[in-house]
Amino acid sequence: SKSMSEFTVLRVLGSSAGGGFPQWNCNCANCAGVRAGQPGLQARTQSSVAWSRNGQDWLLFNASPDILTQLQRAPALQPARALRDTGIAAVCLMDAQIDHVTGLLMLRERGQPLELWATPEVLGDIATGFPLVGMLSHYCGVQTHPVPLDGSALRWSFLPDSHAVPLALSSKPPPYSPYRLAPRPGDNIGITLVNEATGGRLFYAPGLGDISPEVWLAMQAANVVLVDGTFWTGEEMIHAGLSKKHALDMGHLPQSGPGGLLEHLARLPAGTRKVLIHINNTNPILREDSPERRELDAAGVEVAVDGLEIHF
Ligand code: MLT
Ligand code: MN
Ligand code: ZN
Repeated sequence: SKSMSEFTVLRVLGSSAGGGFPQWNCNCANCAGVRAGQPGLQARTQSSVAWSRNGQDWLLFNASPDILTQLQRAPALQPARALRDTGIAAVCLMDAQIDHVTGLLMLRERGQPLELWATPEVLGDIATGFPLVGMLSHYCGVQTHPVPLDGSALRWSFLPDSHAVPLALSSKPPPYSPYRLAPRPGDNIGITLVNEATGGRLFYAPGLGDISPEVWLAMQAANVVLVDGTFWTGEEMIHAGLSKKHALDMGHLPQSGPGGLLEHLARLPAGTRKVLIHINNTNPILREDSPERRELDAAGVEVAVDGLEIHF
C-alpha cells in the first residue's frame, strides 16, 4: 500500500460548463431551483481544475472567469510564502473557450510572467480573436510553451515524479475563432496525468466531442476518468428553448442514448473511477433526486462538485 505522501491531488475548482450554475440570466428549472435554495441542487463555478504533488505548487488547468472566487475557496492555492505569492506555478489550457481562458486576465498582478502551456492552435486564438497574450504583455507578461500532440510527455519541475501526456480531441474551437467551422487537431485537447510514484493515471477532458480510438486507449489506461458532463441529451438546449444547437454542434458528446458517453464508460475496466465535469446548467444530473442521477449512481458514475479532491 502507498503512503499518502506518494499521492498527487487533483482539485476541482469549478465543475460547471460556461455560464456557471446558476447562470446569471437563466431561469430554467435548475437555475431557478438552485437560486431558490431547493434541496438536492448545488451551485457550481466554471470549469477549472488544479494538480499538485506538494500541496503548495499547482498546475492550473484552464483559467475560468470565476478564478478569484475559486482561489478564495481553495486556501492551498495561496501558500503565503512571501508578501505577494501564489500557488499557481503554471497554467495549461485545454482549449481557447471563454470559460477556460478569461481568468488569465485576473492573474495579471503576478510578479513573474505567466507560464502558459497550450497548443499552437489555442495560442493563436488567444493572440488574435481574443488577444489575451498581447494584453497581458502590458501587465505580468506571458511565457508561452507549445503543447506537443505527438505523444511526448510534458514535465514541470514543481511536479516531480509526474508527467502528463496530451492528445488531440475532435471537438470545436470557440465561436469567436476563425476556425469554428473548420476545426483543427489542437483546438481541444485531453490530457493524461501520470503519478510515477503510484502508477496512478487520471484522464481529463472537459470538452469531448467524440470517443476516438486514441481517446478510448487513454480512457482504458486510466484509473480515473474526469470527462465531459456538459449535456444529458443532444437536444437538451433545443428542447429547453435556449438554443438551436445540438450538443455535438458545440463539440460535446451527450451522456445518454446510443453511442453516448455512458455506453463508453460502461465498457471501461472494472475499478475505473468515473467522474463527470463541465456540467451545463440545463443538465438534469445536477438534480440529486432526478431519475437521470439515479441512472448515473447505478452505473457508478460520479458528478463532480466544486472542491472535490481526487488523490491518485
Ligand atoms: C463550451 O465548452 O461549449 C463552453 O462552455 C461555451 C462557453 O464558454 O460559452
Ligand atoms: Mn466550456
Ligand atoms: Zn439554466
